[in-house]
Amino acid sequence: LSASCGKVSLVDLALDLRDRADRAGAVYRALRESLRDGRLAPGDRLPPTRALARDLGISRTTVATVYERLTAEGFLEARVGSGTYVSGVAATPPRCAAGALSPRRSWRWGPTPVSGSAPVPPFDFRLGIPDAALFPFETWRRLLTSESRLREHRPGTYADPAGLERLREAIARSVAYGRGVRADPAEVVVTSGAQQALDLVARVLLEPGDVVAVEDPGYGNARDLFASHGAEVVPVRVDGDGLVVAELPPEARLVYTTPSHQFPLGIPLSLARRRELLAFAAQHDAAIVEDDYDSEFRFSERPLEPLHALDESGRVIYVGTFSKSLLPSLRVGYLVAPSTVVGALCAAKQLTDGFSAIHVQAALARFLQEGLLARHVRRAAKVYAERHALVREALDGLPVEPVPSSAGLHLAAFAELPADFGRRAAAAGVAVDTIGQHRIRPGPDGLVLGYGAAVTDTIRPGLARLARSAGWSSS
Ligand SMILES: Cc1ncc(COP(=O)(O)O)c(C=O)c1O
Repeated sequence: LSASCGKVSLVDLALDLRDRADRAGAVYRALRESLRDGRLAPGDRLPPTRALARDLGISRTTVATVYERLTAEGFLEARVGSGTYVSGVAATPPRCAAGALSPRRSWRWGPTPVSGSAPVPPFDFRLGIPDAALFPFETWRRLLTSESRLREHRPGTYADPAGLERLREAIARSVAYGRGVRADPAEVVVTSGAQQALDLVARVLLEPGDVVAVEDPGYGNARDLFASHGAEVVPVRVDGDGLVVAELPPEARLVYTTPSHQFPLGIPLSLARRRELLAFAAQHDAAIVEDDYDSEFRFSERPLEPLHALDESGRVIYVGTFSKSLLPSLRVGYLVAPSTVVGALCAAKQLTDGFSAIHVQAALARFLQEGLLARHVRRAAKVYAERHALVREALDGLPVEPVPSSAGLHLAAFAELPADFGRRAAAAGVAVDTIGQHRIRPGPDGLVLGYGAAVTDTIRPGLARLARSAGWSSS
């Protein structure tokens, strides 16, 4: 297929767009191939996203995502007001006799931009960032210092991959008390964030080619992780009751879901759907991964019981993290798995990275045992509740349809967005996600507003600027 536009270079893309779940991946691979073999050379201008999207018959967001990724990887550069160009870095190095190293053919991921390397925007509604200013650093430092000594934890030796016994006990107690998850400490594995928990599950449960069902819109890092293990990732619709279980592919080996606070829409999975999902898993011999990433923060009614608590056939792996309740930089998460797979998961953890840093685990165990986590969550939840209410209030005057949600660190609202919404918001100093950014297939768009990083005083003025930049208000 050829895409040409005015004076831009001609890009011949050999594309297989049949896998709807992986269109961005297909476009990415085709462009990388063109860069590798020199069809796209440094200085060449790429077709505008709109033109390429039209020529390929795919959404402009998909093309924009690919351009952003190649830009983040240094292959492309965006020149303000003039378009996207192939950068100097993209020049193909001369091939030596044996050929240069390259990732395996099916590898299609490059590093993606991270929140920590971007400048902090004046009005920060980015997702997944808790307010670090609320974290009790003094206390944490004291605990870390006292656990980092020669006589503590035999620091010259290798430790149990499952995690420090004291921490596994403290996590088991904490999820039992906070979430009603019945967990034996022997079923808990301490991981490097929720992300590693997903990685261990994929290693242990999936064969290449296995079908993994994910929510659409949903959490891209989980999607990419499963795909990187060779799984066929199939998007499944989300409606007002959460994941539409009736549309799950019957051959799914694993279902990844965020039932407490659907990512990114924020709705809880209804009780009827929870039961339906458990019945599906039992009937089709599938595993369920329940990612409970931010439900510590709840602002109203009692939450529904986790799938893990309702599960009678040992098919649910519950994944938790301290990335929202404390800090993502600690890199501590955990999983609670049925006893039938926990040994394999521990072995996977050992194969992957041995074990997680012991002094951090020990300090965290004391943080939990001394009731400091509960205290911190109570304090932080008050601040987040106020921000949640402010965001909710500010949305009332706008042409948007907020998605009911009473937990977590972000709130979504359906809305019609102008085509260049992202650019306009950024020009107004506002960083914000769209629902479309988290979709695989096209569907209703809107805003996803994080309020973890948004300092309370900036919420009203930030949303007013956002409304002006979107053309929703003139004041
Ligand atoms: C759906 C979801 N799961 C998990 C996480 C946390 O990941 P980790 O524990 O690896 O930091 C996030 C963070 O943004 C998330 O949005």
